[in-house]
Amino acid sequence: MKRKIGILTAGGDCPGLNAAIRGVAKTAIVEYNMEVFGFKGGFKGLIDADYMPLPEEKVSGILTLGGTILGTSREKPFKKNHPFDDDPEHKMKCINKTIDSLGLDCVVCIGGNGTMKNAYHLSQVGIPVIGVPKTIDNDVWGTDATFGFDSAVEICTDAIDRLHTTANSHNRIMVIEVMGHDAGWIALHSGLAGGGDVILIPELEYDINVVCKYLLKRNAADKPVSIVVVAEGIKSGKKRSPGPYIAKKIQEYTGLETRETVLGYIQRGGTPSSTDRILATRYGRFAAELIAQKKYNVMVALNNNIIGSIPLSETAGKVSLVGADCRLIKTAQSLGVCFGNTCK
Ligand code: F6P
Repeated sequence: MKRKIGILTAGGDCPGLNAAIRGVAKTAIVEYNMEVFGFKGGFKGLIDADYMPLPEEKVSGILTLGGTILGTSREKPFKKNHPFDDDPEHKMKCINKTIDSLGLDCVVCIGGNGTMKNAYHLSQVGIPVIGVPKTIDNDVWGTDATFGFDSAVEICTDAIDRLHTTANSHNRIMVIEVMGHDAGWIALHSGLAGGGDVILIPELEYDINVVCKYLLKRNAADKPVSIVVVAEGIKSGKKRSPGPYIAKKIQEYTGLETRETVLGYIQRGGTPSSTDRILATRYGRFAAELIAQKKYNVMVALNNNIIGSIPLSETAGKVSLVGADCRLIKTAQSLGVCFGNTCK
């Protein structure tokens, strides 16, 4: 009998999702003669039985496409998402009905930390699942990389490059706020790649006075232009979006003309980088192979450039943050980059 699988994409979108869908589906169809279905809008599609068949021709020509052809949502099937939402017990009944009526062997859940947690919950109630880690934030525990991250870093780096030229023309301090949730991976990588002078990440406590003194020192050394890269997750008294707050403080304290840019969703849009296309394709292919081997309830993971898998129980509920001993921090510090604590 032909084996049947479902695919869903959940959580915030990112470049490379379609490449991963294609990687799973093509391998499942071409190599293993399986039948593939795509659920629309993340776990919502599983609850509402909202799906579409994904024959090979449907996943052709989507490799370079940004976003996800399946759509996504932040639906958490094991939670009441809002007061009018169905209760989790009812949602579970619906999910089981969908899976039984289609006769699915497994559901591939492509997503970030939240998705891995939900996939783990599904596995706990007896639904075979495979997790595939994606997110621009790169904060999924147990894998060296998530696809989407490389593309986001490219976009941020390009933005920082552009801010450099306008900052140089006006002799200004430029603050750029990038995404990353509670992790500083995007800020650290794009800050380093873009030659940021100050990089503030949630994992390292900063003192705004230290930052301002550092900028004044640069100004006194005939460097009136500085780029300050700020991760959205740093503490600032505001829940998110600390960029405008940091820019205001800098201008007030230093008297140096300061502007801010909040990069926002541009970081999640558009075509994936070649690195992300390859990673997503490798992840997708491996997910299909795991299903062929009936190895379920694991997350596909990259370790030292080798694709393998780890139990979902290991990654669920954990987050990968930048360690204080991260080599990239040390590298940047050696070059004089200020992280807002002690600066050279
Ligand atoms: O997880 C990806 C991400 O883009 C984070 O960097 C950001 O904090 C969050 O999603 C934004 O979420 P939403 O799409 O729900 O506004």
